[in-house]
Amino acid sequence: MLEALAQLETSGLAELGSAADAAALEQWRIAYLGASGKVKAALGGLKDVPKDQKPAVGARANEVRTKLEEAFKVRQSALGGNGAAAASGPMIDVTEPGLLHATGLGREHIITRVRNELVEVFARMGFGVAQGPELEDDDHNFIKLNIPAEHPAREPIDNFYIDDPADKSQGPPRMLRSQTSTVQIRVMETQKPPIKIVAPGRVYRPDEVDATHSFMFHQIEGLYIDRGVSMADLKSTLLHFARGYFGPDAEIRLRPSYFPFTEPSAEFDMKIALRPDQPPRWIELGGCGMVDPAVLEMCKIDPEEWSGFAFGFGIERLAMGKYGIPDIRMLFANDLRFLRQL
Ligand code: DAH
Repeated sequence: MLEALAQLETSGLAELGSAADAAALEQWRIAYLGASGKVKAALGGLKDVPKDQKPAVGARANEVRTKLEEAFKVRQSALGGNGAAAASGPMIDVTEPGLLHATGLGREHIITRVRNELVEVFARMGFGVAQGPELEDDDHNFIKLNIPAEHPAREPIDNFYIDDPADKSQGPPRMLRSQTSTVQIRVMETQKPPIKIVAPGRVYRPDEVDATHSFMFHQIEGLYIDRGVSMADLKSTLLHFARGYFGPDAEIRLRPSYFPFTEPSAEFDMKIALRPDQPPRWIELGGCGMVDPAVLEMCKIDPEEWSGFAFGFGIERLAMGKYGIPDIRMLFANDLRFLRQL
């Protein structure tokens, strides 16, 4: 047995010395140190050794095993680390693109795309882009938009309040904004006229979800403040936008309406086909009007010198009109079969 162990040690070290690459090294490891390798077999032979020789033979067997294991590690690092492929595998250029075509490239969500298209159409008319927070306060969502304390639009049932609006001890309640009109206020508070911006973003309302309603959706707000801005400017801007986005045949219509922050106010409709197989029909897109002088004053803009218009409409509605999408829920279900078609 002792002789067999000496033999194992010598042949093992010799063969290890001639293992020239990672593949040969791995073969050696399997042959000697593997689960059914020679070292394991030698240790298994211990049970047949006479009892009085067992301690000596056992110690020698362990010594051989340790030597071979250590020699293996030395050889492994000499051949280039412990990665089997590192020494002999194919060269990999990590700067090459991966196999993207195999998994498919992603793309922008349809809402993101429509938002960018809208911003682009307005940019061509000279509008910049503004943003505001989705977690808003009473001041920007209501007060400075001329929506007073007891106004029904502030009902808790119609808004996602973060603080309890009935608890006056914490100051004005915070909420998820219910309209992007908040951004008008933020811009007017911080910039001097002339101002010409659009503000796309998410808004939140606890509406019952159905084919045309969602508790979260997107609006794009517009604001133009300058000297001598009139309702005619508003209408021509909206028409220009409609034609820029939907093509030269697009039609728009303004219907008298009411919003606390504009005077006069109007509802803004566009004639579009909701489905390719249907004739175009009038779709209500949002509201607009001349910015109420009281709003200008609250933002420290002199209404004697400056006037302006504002508008706000739903991006989902527009996307549904442009792409013939019949149900708003399709936009948020993230069903790839749907998203891939757009
Ligand atoms: N904020 C209004 C809404 O969510 C839409 C709107 C109406 C925006 C009139 C405006 C406006 O800027 O002038 O229903």
